[in-house]
Amino acid sequence: MIYLDNAATSWPKPEAVYDEMINCMKTYGANPGRSGHKMAIEASEKIYECRENLCKLFGISDALCVSFTGNTTEALNMGIKGLLGPGDHAITTSMEHNSVIRPLKKLESLGVQTSVVKADAYGRVGVESILKHINKKTKLIVMTHASNVNGTMNPIRDIGEIAKRHHVVYMVDAAQTAGVCPIDVEQMNIDILAFPGHKGLLGPQGTGGLYVREGIILDTLKEGGTGSLSESPCQPDILPDKYESGTLNTPGIAGLNEGIKYLLDTGVAEVMRHERELTRYMLEGLYDIPKVTVYGTQAPEQRVGVISVNIKGKDCIEVCGELDEKYGIASRGGLHCAYLAHQTIGTLESGTIRLSLGGFNTKKEIDLALQAIGEIAK
Ligand code: ALA
Repeated sequence: MIYLDNAATSWPKPEAVYDEMINCMKTYGANPGRSGHKMAIEASEKIYECRENLCKLFGISDALCVSFTGNTTEALNMGIKGLLGPGDHAITTSMEHNSVIRPLKKLESLGVQTSVVKADAYGRVGVESILKHINKKTKLIVMTHASNVNGTMNPIRDIGEIAKRHHVVYMVDAAQTAGVCPIDVEQMNIDILAFPGHKGLLGPQGTGGLYVREGIILDTLKEGGTGSLSESPCQPDILPDKYESGTLNTPGIAGLNEGIKYLLDTGVAEVMRHERELTRYMLEGLYDIPKVTVYGTQAPEQRVGVISVNIKGKDCIEVCGELDEKYGIASRGGLHCAYLAHQTIGTLESGTIRLSLGGFNTKKEIDLALQAIGEIAK
């Protein structure tokens, strides 16, 4: 299988991820933070180690500001719904995944106002257009670091500066960039970061996380099951317990920790260099195939390895089926949970064939994928 569906979940993972998950299940898979026995303590220590490694990766100074979630969607819901209330105003963009759009839509019925800043046809969001929408009631700017539809990146740092200057909380959806592009929450002025564990961080599905800057207090979406302050009927204010109700996914987090260690050893800048080289190579190949339309910015340094295309006269889902059946290539067709992004780039009717690269893809695999698309397009 040539796996080009890394935007949905990365595959394969480093061997140590699989090994540590099995080791955890077999040797110390007790409930962390509940009991006081050796296995429970080892499980707690592993989870804390993972929090600390996330801090190293994202330039976070306090490990207690990192909470584990099941995925990015959960983290985004926690940030958006935990922060906004009736009368507040939020700014987002037309390139968002429905994990941002749907929570905001729900909050609209409770009296939250939302401005959706329109990106251009390449998916680029202008810094000035964000600025124009800030008003006295603006409490949050929430946006993706890179589109899960066409890979176009946003000027996160510049928008972070604007948010800081206007005392607006800045929340970034790093679903397509965590572990793929360097992220430093201090340098980029990010107040809240939602990230998946199972994509660029190379952990298993069922892992993700939320960083919340010290001083920002979110209302909780879930209460109970923290393992702490059992004498109280109320959710504890201590972090990360406040945001981590219910038993954590210890085997998943143990695996995620190995994925992050792999990235810290390899260097995220090196991962990005490799992916950019392959992305550039694939884009150049695709531009040369007649009848193929490629979406997103043409500048490799302004995008990640998420490439959306269409073949004239072909249905995107059928092409993905053919890539799978005939060529053994995994891709994702359709609207990718992001109807507004497709509307923005003009593919709402057709959807797109999405080919998303990862750190373990090779130039040879890209050659085979280009050959397959060339044959289908003939
Ligand atoms: N959000 C993931 C994707 O874009 C699942 O495919």
